[in-house]
Amino acid sequence: MIYKLADKLAETGNLTDSEFLSILDCREPEFSGYIAEKARAVREKFYGKDVYLRGLIEFTNICKNNCKYCGIRCGNKNAERYRLTEEEIFECSDTGYGLGFRTFVLQGGEDPYFTDERMVSIVRGLKERHPDCAVTLSIGEREKESYQKLFDAGADRYLLRHETADKAHYETLHPKEMSFEHRIQCLKNLKEIGFQVGAGMMIGSPGQTTKNLVEDLRFLQELKPEMVGIGPFIPHHDTEFADCAPGSVEMTLRLLSVIRLILPEVLLPATTALGTLDPQGREKGILAGANVVMPNLSPSGVRKKYLLYDNKICTGDEAAECIRCMSKRVAGTGYQVVHSRGDHIKFAK
Ligand code: SAM
Ligand code: FES
Repeated sequence: MIYKLADKLAETGNLTDSEFLSILDCREPEFSGYIAEKARAVREKFYGKDVYLRGLIEFTNICKNNCKYCGIRCGNKNAERYRLTEEEIFECSDTGYGLGFRTFVLQGGEDPYFTDERMVSIVRGLKERHPDCAVTLSIGEREKESYQKLFDAGADRYLLRHETADKAHYETLHPKEMSFEHRIQCLKNLKEIGFQVGAGMMIGSPGQTTKNLVEDLRFLQELKPEMVGIGPFIPHHDTEFADCAPGSVEMTLRLLSVIRLILPEVLLPATTALGTLDPQGREKGILAGANVVMPNLSPSGVRKKYLLYDNKICTGDEAAECIRCMSKRVAGTGYQVVHSRGDHIKFAK
């Protein structure tokens, strides 16, 4: 019966809510392999054996928000704060370019220092230095005019996880100053402007139910983002969720496969959080349907400070070492890292 549901999902890209629930709740170990195989067939139809690289530059850990799960939220007085200069960001991109990266992801807390003017200057600078590269931003919630300026400056993509599609659940994960409606509106604005948009959620965040995850799937079907970032929740010792259990690797893999089947052309990363909970997590992610990896390009001196959760991997390596390691890992799965921009099929030039 459950195998028939996976067949139906692969054929039609959709299921009823209760069928999605059965797929997520199924504990049969063989089923994970079965649905992963379906997901791989779909990803190979659109993207072959290619795995795209994104060079992640964590350029500030200063944040005005206080998300309850996050190690760099403003309320964490123990976090040692940093921000990179524009010049340092450009240096990271030059190093990355030499190593074969053709996408740079600028990620950071919501740091008021990085006004529209400063971000526009950074985006323009990156595009001038490396016109053949894509620039992805992951800098949180801003107003539509601000997103428009960043797009006009040349930014190609924007990652903003919705975190959960259930308003009541959202409110248990965030302080009352943050609004579920605003976050969702931001994603709609980004889509309207023309960015390649990434939504996503943590798997196993405190209070999350499989019913919530079905709501997330419905939300993704409606928004149709070009990218979906998912990874297990991992507790951080200086947050109120310090003693909560981490999310499950199995469930994350299951969802990677399901997301590949509902959004066949999606760009889907095997995340660092997955690699943190399981030494083979990213390889398993690729085998479950993921087609993107995001090695760290941040200067090694600041990596240990961008600590969203405990025991984060790859905080000590140089960029060159990260990419070597990642290429080897990917090759071990039978897929191959490619040095192209890796746009969503609908945006590929
Ligand atoms: N400030 C930007 C934003 O809000 O989108 C980007 C940075 S934020 C740290 C990036 C993502 O990290 C969040 O969307 C969240 O899903 C994830 N994250 C934060 N804390 C985490 C934790 N404890 N475990 C796993 N992922 C976490
Ligand atoms: Fe702002 Fe996590 S609370 S980046």
